[in-house]
Amino acid sequence: MMTVDEVMELAPVIPVLVVDRVEDALPIARALVAGGLRALEVTLRTPAALDVMREMAQVEGAVVGAGTVVNLRQLDAALEAGARFIVSPGLTSGLGKDVIASGVPYLPGVATAGDIMRGMDLGLSRFKFFPAATSGGLPALKALAAPFFEARFCPTGGIGAANAAEWLAQPFVKCVGGSWVVPAGPVDQAKIEAAARAACALRPA
Ligand code: 3PG
Repeated sequence: MMTVDEVMELAPVIPVLVVDRVEDALPIARALVAGGLRALEVTLRTPAALDVMREMAQVEGAVVGAGTVVNLRQLDAALEAGARFIVSPGLTSGLGKDVIASGVPYLPGVATAGDIMRGMDLGLSRFKFFPAATSGGLPALKALAAPFFEARFCPTGGIGAANAAEWLAQPFVKCVGGSWVVPAGPVDQAKIEAAARAACALRPA
């Protein structure tokens, strides 16, 4: 089992994937890994998601996790499908305790000081900052990161190729998440690989 830091350090960007067709899983995962993005967040928003995770896990170098996990039933299904990390849009102490008990790396969503304190009560210090752009953007996260100086974040929601670098330049941002790397529609492997490569190059030297 990896640590949550190891997952966050695989690449500067965790692509957030909404995949409708199981047949798209392998081409998408291969293109992302070829472009250097290894942590793949498959959101549980489509009926195909669990099968998509199983397919993607076959790609060498891919570390496949489940996103949009909001309850214990989804957590169990994701773990059963081989999820190596779990992402939630928010944080409840109930689900938080269940994920921690499972031992799998966890990135729950936070947007306020109270959210972060609830996470710290559970022993967590790594969070998804969500929805990043509409929760005050970078100024808000800077203000939160000051008192919670040990916390590290993966901002997600409204981040794209144009603004990811400014988030990644912050010491409290370990990676960012976003759906821009794999747009909806027919899979264009060359385009996805190019977007992944560009995403990898975003981290300042
Ligand atoms: C998520 O689930 O993290 C968001 O839907 C991703 O946000 P984005 O589509 O703005 O990148």
